[in-house]
Amino acid sequence: MNSLVRRSAQQLSLWRTYCVKHNAPEAASSGRNAGRPNYEEFIGRHQRQAQCSIVVQVSSEKSYAELYNYCSSFGSIMGAHHYCVRQDETLHYILLEYATSDEAAAAIGAGVTNGELSGVPVRSPFLWFRAAGGGRRGPKLVANTAPALLSLDGTRQVDQGHLLGLLRGAADIEEQVQQLHEHTRLNELGIRMRFLAALQVQQAIAGMFPAAQAQPFGSSVNGFGRMGCDLDLILRFDSDMGAKSPLEAAVPSRLVYHTKENLSNGRSQTQRHMECFGDMLHLFLPGVCHVRRILQARVPIIKYHHEHLDLEVDLSMSNLTGFYMSELLYMFGEMDPRVRPLTFTIRRWAQTCGLTNPSPGRWISNFSLTCLVMFFLQQLRQPILPTIAALAKAAESGDSRVTEDGINCTFTRNVDRLAFRSRNQSSLSELLLQFFEFYSQFDFHNRAISLNEGKPLSKPDHSAMYIVNPLEQLLNVSKNVSLEECERLRIEVRNAAWVLESEVENASVPEGDGQELSWGLLNLFKHPEKAVIRPNMFFKPRMVEVSDLFEQKEAGATSSTPPTPAITYKSASMRQQVQSIKAATRSELKQLRGSGSSVPASSPKNRRSSR
Ligand code: GTP
Ligand code: MG
Repeated sequence: MNSLVRRSAQQLSLWRTYCVKHNAPEAASSGRNAGRPNYEEFIGRHQRQAQCSIVVQVSSEKSYAELYNYCSSFGSIMGAHHYCVRQDETLHYILLEYATSDEAAAAIGAGVTNGELSGVPVRSPFLWFRAAGGGRRGPKLVANTAPALLSLDGTRQVDQGHLLGLLRGAADIEEQVQQLHEHTRLNELGIRMRFLAALQVQQAIAGMFPAAQAQPFGSSVNGFGRMGCDLDLILRFDSDMGAKSPLEAAVPSRLVYHTKENLSNGRSQTQRHMECFGDMLHLFLPGVCHVRRILQARVPIIKYHHEHLDLEVDLSMSNLTGFYMSELLYMFGEMDPRVRPLTFTIRRWAQTCGLTNPSPGRWISNFSLTCLVMFFLQQLRQPILPTIAALAKAAESGDSRVTEDGINCTFTRNVDRLAFRSRNQSSLSELLLQFFEFYSQFDFHNRAISLNEGKPLSKPDHSAMYIVNPLEQLLNVSKNVSLEECERLRIEVRNAAWVLESEVENASVPEGDGQELSWGLLNLFKHPEKAVIRPNMFFKPRMVEVSDLFEQKEAGATSSTPPTPAITYKSASMRQQVQSIKAATRSELKQLRGSGSSVPASSPKNRRSSR
């Protein structure tokens, strides 16, 4: 820690540069985020954008000018983004945004069904730009007025080698953290695509459920998402997700819809509805594939892959607390410009040392890890974040939100109302080191972490790790974490503190051939291979290992690898589920490995067909 004291003057100047760079002088001095959209405004803006947008599959980005001219006949195109979906072959798409939703609807309405396929004709914002004349001879549009594409290959994830090069070439750890955040966070196009996926579900059921809303939440919208993150989606039949308008609160209409009464209890009814929606998504929605129903979980979900958006989706229909929790995290991220880069770095570190894993299990989830970071920032002597109790205390009547199962999610949506002002001027490298030091000494054995109070509490049970669920305070967010995993976390934070301490001690960047050397964060991120395959030695054997689910040829096994024993499935549906899990796991592995993946792609070639 001495080195940190020595560097305090330097930190102050770094912090000032930092605030200027991030255009948030207010945030730096007062903890406010004045002038920036709040969560509901952010969500609302993206929902409107999605309603004005269509996605068109093209043969390559070269088709853009012709597509632009063709689609301009339906309205004014405000912007166009190109992206690729890389599977067996590279597929090209262009997302066009019109000035109004009516114009987008006109473009969708002008579409025709693909006569070559026998599928059910479904209207959706996902289209295909076929050759001029639809196979018959017709005029080919030549364009010369199309404005430049706003993105080209806009969802391509930064190449691992390039990222490491950037980190090596950074001036200091501070800049490494910033670079990592800049180059790996979910970009604007990624957010737009996620809102389009939500809108597709919402529109698909709008006829029968005009008030239904499919709302993204989680890392896709809370500002902690990285490129390629999954989409968490909640589907609600009512529109009861935000503040009540004064009109709604006024005298209700005397005309009441006839409604079918639920015959079973809430949970089994939800499961039944989800089964039904799962079938609908699977059978009718273009792009939706590998649908899996996980209905016995605490929050039942339907998982699917969207092949036109290259996106994994988790759809739930109950539990709005996840949605409000995302709002809390969004607010925390907005309150101070250090919060997101710090969290990104810690999430990346946890991934590279194998502490987190995309699939759920006995290890800490990204969400729990994010809670650890938020708590750390709350409990500092000079806190950077306020407690949730303070946010709840500052709530006004318009902030009242209570979920259908009575969970109170009321807290102020206007941080300006808080008396909280952070005077903490620590740099990102200091905070990172302090984070590791804090958790190397944290008494996980006896203490629980409470973001509501911003201080440790006595642990109410014997869970290895206890993080009080901020919105359902009787629950433990990290209940799943095993003793071994908690212990591993403690070992890894100690190692990280040790590595970082020596990095800060030798604060100067290596001279000369420093580009070749590993320093700073690179020394923290030393084991990327662990992120892909978890070491089995830490776990008791599972009933079926994930590796068992891959046939030898799929796993790229060499001839020296012993053959995997064939698995006999008792039921065809189990077999089908396993196939789906295999496909999804492949896609997750591919995401983890980046574009240089050696994992074979699984989806069928023809993306144009509605599967
Ligand atoms: P990645 O998907 O790993 O990028 O992170 P994520 O933040 O999206 O996590 P995840 O998909 O597991 O969960 C989605 C969101 O649900 C989280 O961001 C939280 O807002 C919310 N959530 C997840 N678990 C809990 C929980 O135990 N309690 C509450 N209140 N919310 C939760
Ligand atoms: Mg998520």
